[in-house]
Amino acid sequence: MNATQQQLKVKFQQAMGAAFGGEYAENDPILVSTTNPKFGDYQANVSLSLGKKLGQQPRAIALAILDKLDVSDMCEPPEIAGPGFINLKLKLAYLEAQLNGIQTDPRLGIAPTKNPKRVIVDYPSPNIAKEMHVGHLRPAVIGDCISRILEFVGDEVLRVSHVGDWGTPFGMLIAYLQTEYPEALTTDETLDLGDLSSFYRQAKKRFDRDEEFKEAARQAVVELQAGDEETLLAWKIVCQLSSRAYQVIYNLMGIAPFIERGESFYNGFLPEVVEELDKLGLLVENQGAKCVFLEGFTNRDGEPLPLIVQKSDGGYNYSATDLAAIRYRVKVDKAQWVIYPVGAEQINHFAQIFQVGRRAGWITDNIKFVHAPFGLVLGEDGQKLKTRSGDAVRLQDLLDDAIAKVRTDLERRLQQEEREETEEFINKVAQVVGISAVKYADLSQNRTSSYIFSYDKMLALQGNTAPYMLYAYARIQGISRKGDINFEQLGDNAKVLLQHETEITLAKHILQLDEVISAIELDLLPNRLCEYLFQLSQKFNLFYDRDRGVRVLDAEEPLRTSRLVLCDLTAKTLKLGLCLLGIEVLERM
Ligand code: ARG
Repeated sequence: MNATQQQLKVKFQQAMGAAFGGEYAENDPILVSTTNPKFGDYQANVSLSLGKKLGQQPRAIALAILDKLDVSDMCEPPEIAGPGFINLKLKLAYLEAQLNGIQTDPRLGIAPTKNPKRVIVDYPSPNIAKEMHVGHLRPAVIGDCISRILEFVGDEVLRVSHVGDWGTPFGMLIAYLQTEYPEALTTDETLDLGDLSSFYRQAKKRFDRDEEFKEAARQAVVELQAGDEETLLAWKIVCQLSSRAYQVIYNLMGIAPFIERGESFYNGFLPEVVEELDKLGLLVENQGAKCVFLEGFTNRDGEPLPLIVQKSDGGYNYSATDLAAIRYRVKVDKAQWVIYPVGAEQINHFAQIFQVGRRAGWITDNIKFVHAPFGLVLGEDGQKLKTRSGDAVRLQDLLDDAIAKVRTDLERRLQQEEREETEEFINKVAQVVGISAVKYADLSQNRTSSYIFSYDKMLALQGNTAPYMLYAYARIQGISRKGDINFEQLGDNAKVLLQHETEITLAKHILQLDEVISAIELDLLPNRLCEYLFQLSQKFNLFYDRDRGVRVLDAEEPLRTSRLVLCDLTAKTLKLGLCLLGIEVLERM
């Protein structure tokens, strides 16, 4: 709820209290933004919900509220519509004052939350015994965006990468390191294994054709779990190299720093988890394995499903590690909210571990654990995105291709426009636009659905794409360059005056960013922010349109300054919004 809604709510509650008695001053006026400007800006639906309780017609209730309601400083006289909705239209003077008020505020008038929470966002959490591929895109991009938004809201955000750094998949890599690079284990210097991706591929090749090597890989896993020192050292080297190579791509993508607490981090806590579950009477032996029988999950025969915590050979699995992580996050990190942006294929996994966490008393009623699932990245054929040879697409290739495509387009455009730009400029624009396009294409989809990865779509200059948004921003900076105006020097007393329809529409939209952010705080859907920014760019383009909009640089004062403030506020809103998506803006492109 934004500041305007907050104020209106208070006024409604006072009016309801005065009209129907004190207890009604607590009621929610049910204020919602209208979808059709014909009905004003907000609509209060409370009259309909009070009908029964008060034994009156909603229209009569609406009239009684209006009799006591004074919103004249904010709104035009309210109107009753339909069965008893109260429609409110904000006064232009009120909107103007709001815009003047946020002009020099870096938060654009969005107050930080009054009750900040301690939040953990579990991302990007890749399994690092593999090369980085397209499957690693969504957790990084979505997790980063959610973290940025909650941080902006004022929460204390801890980004924790639950790296898959333990277990069977490492056997092959350890064995490969031991046989091909034995010197890595005896020197203190970090070894140059060349291209890590070829290391992965060579190891896999060997694993697939060499039986003896396969056995060595299996043996390495056994030794790793038994805590053999030399094997642990090899494992550590592989992890470091891998995690460093991943970091290069996260840097390229502009993913904010996170801490790494891999699965291995929880090894030491696993016996305690088992012990505690046992003490609580939740643990059952089933065919030698220690399990918790789940409520509400059954197998094909309708029998209760066990969640294995410790396998019959004494080993632990993914679920056990995640239970230890839940316990640690509550007890040590003191998290109040833990968010897992992880693929939708793990919906059951999270429902199950959260259930056990609750039954064990770790997750209490005042702590929220949520899985924020997402769909897959698909190829044009509607199947999981793959290379022609059927492998998962390497993330580096995917990003490089996007950057290369932007570069080609840019060079063509520069030639057409007979523009000379430095190599440095071209590189920068290609990188920012290419990376942004990939991220934006991902974030602008409803997180829960899968989407088709298409360079043509994400790089289009029109539509809900990063290039469109970045152009809108650069275009506004172009206005300041053309008019030789420093937006920062427009001054605190530059007054906004709203006259033209396109101006009013743009102004109202600028003031709605906090509603969007509040909504995302609840459902963690970044596509809401993309949609908002897309509409903002469209509204700006209409405002700035030669025929349908207004004149700006060649308008008379005081309109000229007012409109420049609107331009500046649009740019600042775009910049802030894109920054929350993890996207950098360009002053020129
Ligand atoms: N490493 C896992 C995977 O790639 C994701 C881990 C998500 N986080 C967690 N706490 N389970 O599938």
